[in-house]
Amino acid sequence: MSKSRLRLIVAAVFTGLIFLTAGVLTAADAPDEISIENKGYKSDKKGPVKFSHKKHAADYKVKCADCHHVYKDGKNVWKEGDPVQKCSECHSPEEKKGNADKLQLSFHKNCQGCHKELKDKEAPYKKCNDCHQGK
Ligand code: HEC
Ligand code: HEC
Ligand code: HEC
Ligand code: HEC
Repeated sequence: MSKSRLRLIVAAVFTGLIFLTAGVLTAADAPDEISIENKGYKSDKKGPVKFSHKKHAADYKVKCADCHHVYKDGKNVWKEGDPVQKCSECHSPEEKKGNADKLQLSFHKNCQGCHKELKDKEAPYKKCNDCHQGK
């Protein structure tokens, strides 16, 4: 391998590391399919929820900021490229914290809230097991 090529690779790896340590995550870092399965609920009866991150962002064209947010003075200041925290970092499964609802309610508001407004009524809204996989 030539020296200049090696230098190029080292530089590329290094740039990658900088991005990693800076915590910059993009849609490409999110798994295509997510199994949402948090711990800490008083009772965990309904089981994990399969969620196609890729389909929502790419095919259904839902904006990232419809689901991801960081609120400052009542406004969502999160933008694409910013780090993404898990919902549970701010929404506790056990108690409402400030304006942040409990985790279960936040998920239901986000997921069902949007699905309910859709005209075609194809997205799961009422039937629990269209989202939940049971235990
Ligand atoms: C649009 C999808 C969707 C539908 C429909 C839905 N849920 Fe959920 N629900 C979620 C998501 C996402 C979570 C968060 C799961 C987690 O954090 O593990 C959740 C969490 C829960 C939890 C707490 C965690 C657990 O597994 O027990 C309960 C209880 C629950 N839902 C009950 C229901 C019931 C009852 C229905 C039907 C009346 C329902 N959900 C319909 C998406 C949905
Ligand atoms: C319909 C809702 C929705 C949309 C649209 C959406 N996301 Fe997500 N995203 C989620 C959920 C839910 C999770 C899992 C969060 C959790 O487990 O607490 C997630 C996870 C992620 C993660 C992974 C975080 C980790 O810890 O692994 C990244 C990165 C991410 N999203 C970026 C994006 C970007 C960039 C876009 C737009 C191109 C986007 N998301 C669009 C709901 C969405
Ligand atoms: C950095 C902390 C933080 C993270 C991470 C976070 N939230 Fe929130 N969320 C909040 C706060 C604070 C509010 C209350 C905002 C207000 O009304 O002042 C809120 C409000 C909401 C609301 C009601 C208002 C709205 O924007 O629709 C829903 C639904 C919601 N969050 C769902 C989620 C989901 C789903 C995730 C993960 C994909 C998530 N949140 C991640 C802090 C957070
Ligand atoms: C802002 C709007 C929006 C939000 C938020 C949203 N969805 Fe959806 N969802 C859609 C649309 C649009 C479709 C496609 C409906 C159709 O096929 O007509 C869909 C379809 C689905 C489907 C059936 C098809 C598939 O992709 O598997 C599931 C399951 C689903 N959503 C789960 C979820 C869960 C779980 C959440 C919350 C973490 C969520 N959605 C949040 C808009 C949304």
